[in-house]
Amino acid sequence: MADLSVRYLGLGLRNPLVVAASGLTATSAGVRKAAEAGAGAVVLKSLFEEQLEAELAPAGAAIDAGAHPEAADFLSRAGWTEGSADYLKLIREAKAAAGPAPIIASVNCRGEAAWVEYAGRIAESGADALELNIAFMPFSASEGGAEIEERVLRVVSGVRAATGLPLAVKLGPGYTSLPHLAASLAAAGAGALVLFNRFFRLDIDLETLSLKPGPLRSSGEDYHESLRWISVLYERAGCELAAGTGVHDAEAALKLVLAGASAVQLCSAIYQRGWGAIAEIRQGMESWLERRGEPSLSALRGRLSQTRSEDPERYLRLQYIQALTGLS
Ligand SMILES: Cc1cc2nc3c(=O)[nH]c(=O)nc-3n(C[C@H](O)[C@H](O)[C@H](O)COP(=O)(O)O)c2cc1C
Repeated sequence: MADLSVRYLGLGLRNPLVVAASGLTATSAGVRKAAEAGAGAVVLKSLFEEQLEAELAPAGAAIDAGAHPEAADFLSRAGWTEGSADYLKLIREAKAAAGPAPIIASVNCRGEAAWVEYAGRIAESGADALELNIAFMPFSASEGGAEIEERVLRVVSGVRAATGLPLAVKLGPGYTSLPHLAASLAAAGAGALVLFNRFFRLDIDLETLSLKPGPLRSSGEDYHESLRWISVLYERAGCELAAGTGVHDAEAALKLVLAGASAVQLCSAIYQRGWGAIAEIRQGMESWLERRGEPSLSALRGRLSQTRSEDPERYLRLQYIQALTGLS
Protein backbone atom coordinates (compact mmCIF):
# COMPACT_ATOMS: atom_id res chain seq x y z
CA MET A 1 0.00 0.00 0.00
CA ALA A 2 1.30 3.44 -0.90
CA ASP A 3 2.57 5.53 1.99
CA LEU A 4 0.50 8.71 2.39
CA SER A 5 2.14 9.88 5.62
CA VAL A 6 3.49 13.42 5.70
CA ARG A 7 5.13 15.81 8.11
CA TYR A 8 3.36 19.10 8.70
CA LEU A 9 4.33 21.70 11.31
CA GLY A 10 6.81 19.21 12.74
CA LEU A 11 4.00 16.69 13.34
CA GLY A 12 3.66 13.22 11.82
CA LEU A 13 0.31 12.89 9.94
CA ARG A 14 -0.94 9.52 8.65
CA ASN A 15 -2.08 11.36 5.52
CA PRO A 16 -2.16 15.01 4.38
CA LEU A 17 -5.96 15.40 4.71
CA VAL A 18 -6.65 17.95 7.44
CA VAL A 19 -10.22 18.80 8.46
CA ALA A 20 -10.40 22.61 8.26
CA ALA A 21 -11.65 24.88 11.03
CA SER A 22 -15.45 24.95 10.80
CA GLY A 23 -18.62 23.87 12.54
CA LEU A 24 -17.47 20.31 11.81
CA THR A 25 -14.72 20.69 14.40
CA ALA A 26 -16.50 22.79 17.02
CA THR A 27 -17.12 19.86 19.37
CA SER A 28 -15.14 16.86 20.56
CA ALA A 29 -17.82 14.65 18.95
CA GLY A 30 -16.99 16.25 15.58
CA VAL A 31 -13.29 15.76 16.19
CA ARG A 32 -13.89 12.09 17.04
CA LYS A 33 -15.82 11.63 13.77
CA ALA A 34 -13.01 13.31 11.84
CA ALA A 35 -10.42 11.02 13.42
CA GLU A 36 -12.54 7.91 12.87
CA ALA A 37 -13.04 8.95 9.25
CA GLY A 38 -9.25 8.88 8.85
CA ALA A 39 -8.27 12.57 8.92
CA GLY A 40 -4.54 13.25 9.09
CA ALA A 41 -5.12 16.16 11.50
CA VAL A 42 -7.96 18.37 12.71
CA VAL A 43 -8.11 22.16 12.99
CA LEU A 44 -10.60 23.20 15.67
CA LYS A 45 -13.27 25.82 14.98
CA SER A 46 -11.69 29.23 15.55
CA LEU A 47 -11.92 31.17 18.74
CA PHE A 48 -12.38 34.86 17.96
CA GLU A 49 -9.83 37.36 19.18
CA GLU A 50 -12.74 39.50 20.33
CA GLN A 51 -13.80 36.72 22.68
CA LEU A 52 -10.42 36.88 24.37
CA GLU A 53 -10.35 40.65 24.43
CA ALA A 54 -13.78 40.70 26.06
CA GLU A 55 -12.39 38.65 28.91
CA LEU A 56 -9.18 40.62 29.26
CA ALA A 57 -11.00 43.97 29.19
CA PRO A 58 -12.26 45.68 32.37
CA ALA A 59 -15.78 44.62 33.36
CA GLY A 60 -18.42 46.48 31.37
CA ALA A 61 -16.07 47.52 28.55
CA ALA A 62 -17.63 47.27 25.12
CA ILE A 63 -16.37 44.64 22.69
CA ASP A 64 -15.34 45.99 19.33
CA ALA A 65 -17.21 43.29 17.47
CA GLY A 66 -17.99 45.72 14.66
CA ALA A 67 -14.41 45.36 13.45
CA HIS A 68 -15.19 41.74 12.83
CA PRO A 69 -18.87 41.32 12.02
CA GLU A 70 -18.74 37.57 12.55
CA ALA A 71 -17.48 38.05 16.08
CA ALA A 72 -20.78 39.31 17.46
CA ASP A 73 -22.50 36.28 16.00
CA PHE A 74 -19.82 34.03 17.37
CA LEU A 75 -19.90 35.56 20.85
CA SER A 76 -23.63 35.08 21.15
CA ARG A 77 -23.53 31.47 20.04
CA ALA A 78 -24.70 28.99 22.61
CA GLY A 79 -21.86 27.01 24.08
CA TRP A 80 -19.27 29.76 23.99
CA THR A 81 -20.90 32.14 26.41
CA GLU A 82 -18.89 30.90 29.35
CA GLY A 83 -15.74 32.20 27.76
CA SER A 84 -12.39 31.12 26.52
CA ALA A 85 -12.09 28.47 29.23
CA ASP A 86 -14.57 26.52 27.11
CA TYR A 87 -12.15 26.58 24.23
CA LEU A 88 -9.36 25.19 26.41
CA LYS A 89 -11.78 22.47 27.50
CA LEU A 90 -12.57 21.74 23.86
CA ILE A 91 -8.84 21.37 23.16
CA ARG A 92 -8.43 18.89 26.02
CA GLU A 93 -11.49 16.88 24.97
CA ALA A 94 -10.50 17.00 21.31
CA LYS A 95 -7.05 15.67 22.18
CA ALA A 96 -8.66 12.73 23.96
CA ALA A 97 -11.04 12.11 21.03
CA ALA A 98 -8.60 12.49 18.15
CA GLY A 99 -6.61 9.25 18.42
CA PRO A 100 -3.56 9.56 16.16
CA ALA A 101 -4.70 12.84 14.54
CA PRO A 102 -2.90 15.93 15.86
CA ILE A 103 -5.12 18.78 17.07
CA ILE A 104 -4.50 22.27 15.72
CA ALA A 105 -6.21 25.04 17.70
CA SER A 106 -7.32 28.13 15.78
CA VAL A 107 -7.66 31.79 16.69
CA ASN A 108 -9.41 34.17 14.33
CA CYS A 109 -7.56 37.47 14.56
CA ARG A 110 -7.55 40.79 12.79
CA GLY A 111 -4.03 41.79 13.69
CA GLU A 112 -4.09 42.79 17.35
CA ALA A 113 -1.82 40.86 19.63
CA ALA A 114 -3.37 41.78 22.99
CA TRP A 115 -4.51 38.22 23.54
CA VAL A 116 -1.17 36.50 22.92
CA GLU A 117 -0.67 35.32 26.50
CA TYR A 118 -3.65 33.03 25.83
CA ALA A 119 -1.50 31.20 23.28
CA GLY A 120 0.47 29.73 26.19
CA ARG A 121 -2.75 28.35 27.67
CA ILE A 122 -3.65 26.80 24.32
CA ALA A 123 -0.30 25.00 24.43
CA GLU A 124 -0.79 23.88 28.05
CA SER A 125 -4.20 22.46 27.14
CA GLY A 126 -2.54 20.01 24.79
CA ALA A 127 -2.92 21.48 21.31
CA ASP A 128 -0.24 20.20 18.97
CA ALA A 129 -0.12 23.42 16.94
CA LEU A 130 -1.91 26.73 16.50
CA GLU A 131 -3.42 28.16 13.31
CA LEU A 132 -3.93 31.92 13.16
CA ASN A 133 -6.81 32.77 10.90
CA ILE A 134 -5.87 36.34 10.05
CA ALA A 135 -8.98 37.73 8.46
CA PHE A 136 -10.25 41.24 8.27
CA MET A 137 -11.83 43.56 5.74
CA PRO A 138 -9.67 46.58 4.93
CA PHE A 139 -12.52 49.10 4.84
CA SER A 140 -10.53 52.20 5.67
CA ALA A 141 -9.10 54.32 2.86
CA SER A 142 -6.48 55.58 5.30
CA GLU A 143 -4.72 52.25 5.81
CA GLY A 144 -2.41 51.10 3.01
CA GLY A 145 -1.26 47.62 2.09
CA ALA A 146 2.10 47.97 3.85
CA GLU A 147 0.40 48.92 7.13
CA ILE A 148 -1.97 46.00 6.87
CA GLU A 149 0.93 43.61 6.28
CA GLU A 150 2.75 45.14 9.28
CA ARG A 151 -0.32 44.38 11.38
CA VAL A 152 -0.34 40.77 10.18
CA LEU A 153 3.36 40.42 10.97
CA ARG A 154 2.99 41.98 14.42
CA VAL A 155 0.44 39.43 15.51
CA VAL A 156 2.58 36.54 14.25
CA SER A 157 5.71 37.88 16.01
CA GLY A 158 3.69 38.44 19.19
CA VAL A 159 2.30 34.92 19.21
CA ARG A 160 5.69 33.46 18.29
CA ALA A 161 7.24 35.20 21.31
CA ALA A 162 4.45 33.91 23.59
CA THR A 163 4.54 30.21 22.69
CA GLY A 164 6.78 27.58 21.17
CA LEU A 165 3.78 25.85 19.57
CA PRO A 166 4.16 25.19 15.84
CA LEU A 167 2.38 28.04 14.12
CA ALA A 168 0.41 28.10 10.87
CA VAL A 169 -0.98 31.32 9.39
CA LYS A 170 -4.15 31.08 7.31
CA LEU A 171 -4.50 33.93 4.83
CA GLY A 172 -7.11 35.15 2.41
CA PRO A 173 -6.13 35.52 -1.24
CA GLY A 174 -6.18 39.34 -1.34
CA TYR A 175 -2.61 40.41 -0.54
CA THR A 176 -0.65 42.56 -2.96
CA SER A 177 2.66 40.70 -2.95
CA LEU A 178 2.18 37.26 -1.52
CA PRO A 179 5.84 36.17 -2.00
CA HIS A 180 7.04 39.15 0.06
CA LEU A 181 4.44 38.63 2.78
CA ALA A 182 5.06 34.87 2.88
CA ALA A 183 8.80 35.27 3.37
CA SER A 184 8.22 37.93 6.06
CA LEU A 185 5.75 35.67 7.88
CA ALA A 186 8.20 32.77 7.79
CA ALA A 187 10.92 35.06 9.19
CA ALA A 188 8.49 36.16 11.93
CA GLY A 189 8.01 32.55 13.00
CA ALA A 190 5.25 31.01 10.88
CA GLY A 191 6.00 27.34 10.30
CA ALA A 192 3.35 27.07 7.60
CA LEU A 193 0.97 29.15 5.54
CA VAL A 194 -2.54 27.93 4.76
CA LEU A 195 -3.49 29.19 1.31
CA PHE A 196 -6.27 30.23 1.23
CA ASN A 197 -9.22 30.92 3.47
CA ARG A 198 -12.54 31.27 1.70
CA PHE A 199 -14.51 34.15 3.08
CA PHE A 200 -18.24 34.62 3.43
CA ARG A 201 -19.68 35.63 0.05
CA LEU A 202 -22.08 38.50 -0.25
CA ASP A 203 -25.05 38.42 -2.62
CA ILE A 204 -28.18 40.42 -3.39
CA ASP A 205 -31.72 39.11 -3.58
CA LEU A 206 -33.32 40.81 -6.61
CA GLU A 207 -36.86 39.97 -5.46
CA THR A 208 -36.65 41.45 -1.97
CA LEU A 209 -33.88 43.95 -2.82
CA SER A 210 -31.95 42.87 0.24
CA LEU A 211 -28.63 41.26 1.02
CA LYS A 212 -28.32 37.52 1.19
CA PRO A 213 -25.40 35.12 1.67
CA GLY A 214 -23.63 33.88 -1.44
CA PRO A 215 -22.75 30.19 -1.77
CA LEU A 216 -21.59 28.99 1.64
CA ARG A 217 -19.49 26.20 0.21
CA SER A 218 -16.77 25.97 -2.38
CA SER A 219 -16.95 23.85 -5.49
CA GLY A 220 -14.42 21.49 -7.02
CA GLU A 221 -13.40 24.26 -9.44
CA ASP A 222 -12.07 26.51 -6.69
CA TYR A 223 -8.58 25.10 -6.01
CA HIS A 224 -6.69 26.79 -8.85
CA GLU A 225 -5.66 29.93 -6.96
CA SER A 226 -4.17 27.79 -4.18
CA LEU A 227 -2.48 25.62 -6.79
CA ARG A 228 -0.79 28.57 -8.45
CA TRP A 229 0.48 30.15 -5.23
CA ILE A 230 1.61 26.93 -3.64
CA SER A 231 3.57 26.04 -6.77
CA VAL A 232 5.12 29.53 -6.85
CA LEU A 233 5.95 29.71 -3.13
CA TYR A 234 7.25 26.17 -2.65
CA GLU A 235 10.89 26.28 -1.50
CA ARG A 236 10.72 30.07 -1.66
CA ALA A 237 8.50 31.09 1.25
CA GLY A 238 10.85 29.66 3.87
CA CYS A 239 8.07 27.63 5.49
CA GLU A 240 5.66 24.82 4.72
CA LEU A 241 2.48 25.33 2.73
CA ALA A 242 -0.97 23.85 3.24
CA ALA A 243 -3.71 24.06 0.64
CA GLY A 244 -7.22 25.21 1.44
CA THR A 245 -10.36 25.95 -0.60
CA GLY A 246 -11.86 23.84 -3.33
CA VAL A 247 -10.35 20.43 -2.51
CA HIS A 248 -13.22 18.08 -3.28
CA ASP A 249 -11.49 15.04 -4.74
CA ALA A 250 -8.28 13.00 -4.80
CA GLU A 251 -7.19 14.63 -8.06
CA ALA A 252 -7.14 18.12 -6.57
CA ALA A 253 -5.38 16.89 -3.43
CA LEU A 254 -2.69 15.14 -5.50
CA LYS A 255 -2.16 18.20 -7.71
CA LEU A 256 -1.71 20.43 -4.67
CA VAL A 257 0.89 18.06 -3.18
CA LEU A 258 2.70 17.95 -6.54
CA ALA A 259 2.66 21.77 -6.47
CA GLY A 260 4.27 21.71 -3.02
CA ALA A 261 1.59 21.37 -0.32
CA SER A 262 2.56 19.50 2.83
CA ALA A 263 -1.09 19.21 3.83
CA VAL A 264 -4.49 19.73 2.24
CA GLN A 265 -7.47 21.11 4.15
CA LEU A 266 -11.02 19.86 3.57
CA CYS A 267 -14.24 21.54 4.60
CA SER A 268 -16.96 21.93 1.93
CA ALA A 269 -16.38 18.41 0.57
CA ILE A 270 -17.21 17.00 4.01
CA TYR A 271 -20.24 19.25 4.46
CA GLN A 272 -21.52 18.12 1.06
CA ARG A 273 -20.72 14.41 1.08
CA GLY A 274 -20.34 13.58 4.78
CA TRP A 275 -17.33 12.19 6.66
CA GLY A 276 -16.94 9.46 4.01
CA ALA A 277 -15.40 12.12 1.75
CA ILE A 278 -12.12 11.72 3.67
CA ALA A 279 -11.84 8.00 2.95
CA GLU A 280 -12.89 8.51 -0.69
CA ILE A 281 -10.16 11.10 -1.22
CA ARG A 282 -7.55 9.04 0.67
CA GLN A 283 -8.37 5.91 -1.33
CA GLY A 284 -8.28 7.87 -4.59
CA MET A 285 -4.81 9.13 -3.71
CA GLU A 286 -3.59 5.65 -2.79
CA SER A 287 -4.93 4.14 -6.02
CA TRP A 288 -3.26 6.84 -8.12
CA LEU A 289 0.10 6.28 -6.41
CA GLU A 290 -0.19 2.53 -6.77
CA ARG A 291 -1.18 2.74 -10.44
CA ARG A 292 1.92 4.79 -11.12
CA GLY A 293 4.19 2.61 -8.98
CA GLU A 294 4.96 5.48 -6.60
CA PRO A 295 5.60 4.16 -3.08
CA SER A 296 5.39 7.47 -1.21
CA LEU A 297 3.35 10.64 -1.48
CA SER A 298 5.95 12.76 0.34
CA ALA A 299 8.54 11.96 -2.31
CA LEU A 300 6.31 13.69 -4.87
CA ARG A 301 5.87 16.95 -2.96
CA GLY A 302 6.84 19.93 -5.06
CA ARG A 303 7.70 17.92 -8.17
CA LEU A 304 5.58 20.31 -10.22
CA SER A 305 6.49 23.47 -8.32
CA GLN A 306 7.82 26.49 -10.12
CA THR A 307 11.32 26.18 -8.62
CA ARG A 308 11.70 22.71 -10.14
CA SER A 309 10.22 23.63 -13.49
CA GLU A 310 12.12 24.07 -16.74
CA ASP A 311 9.47 26.54 -17.84
CA PRO A 312 8.89 28.78 -14.78
CA GLU A 313 7.17 31.51 -16.81
CA ARG A 314 4.12 29.33 -17.29
CA TYR A 315 3.27 29.58 -13.59
CA LEU A 316 3.02 33.36 -13.88
CA ARG A 317 0.83 33.60 -16.91
CA LEU A 318 -2.21 35.82 -16.33
CA GLN A 319 -3.86 36.33 -19.71
CA TYR A 320 -5.30 34.09 -22.35
CA ILE A 321 -2.95 35.41 -25.00
CA GLN A 322 -4.11 32.97 -27.63
CA ALA A 323 -7.74 33.98 -27.16
CA LEU A 324 -6.84 37.66 -27.38
CA THR A 325 -4.41 37.60 -30.30
CA GLY A 326 -4.94 34.32 -32.06
CA LEU A 327 -1.28 33.50 -31.30
CA SER A 328 -0.26 30.67 -28.98
C1 LIG B 1 -19.60 26.75 8.06
C2 LIG B 1 -18.16 27.14 7.97
C3 LIG B 1 -17.50 27.58 9.12
C4 LIG B 1 -16.15 27.98 9.05
N1 LIG B 1 -15.50 28.40 10.18
C5 LIG B 1 -14.19 28.72 10.13
C6 LIG B 1 -13.46 29.09 11.29
O1 LIG B 1 -13.98 29.13 12.41
N2 LIG B 1 -12.15 29.40 11.15
C7 LIG B 1 -11.51 29.37 9.96
O2 LIG B 1 -10.30 29.63 9.91
N3 LIG B 1 -12.17 29.01 8.83
C8 LIG B 1 -13.47 28.68 8.90
N4 LIG B 1 -14.13 28.30 7.76
C9 LIG B 1 -13.39 28.22 6.49
C10 LIG B 1 -12.90 26.79 6.26
O3 LIG B 1 -11.97 26.40 7.27
C11 LIG B 1 -12.18 26.67 4.90
O4 LIG B 1 -10.99 27.44 4.92
C12 LIG B 1 -13.04 27.12 3.73
O5 LIG B 1 -14.36 26.61 3.83
C13 LIG B 1 -12.42 26.69 2.39
O6 LIG B 1 -12.27 25.31 2.31
P1 LIG B 1 -13.30 24.40 1.45
O7 LIG B 1 -13.23 24.85 0.05
O8 LIG B 1 -12.80 22.99 1.65
O9 LIG B 1 -14.65 24.63 2.06
C14 LIG B 1 -15.47 27.92 7.80
C15 LIG B 1 -16.14 27.47 6.67
C16 LIG B 1 -17.48 27.08 6.73
C17 LIG B 1 -18.18 26.58 5.47
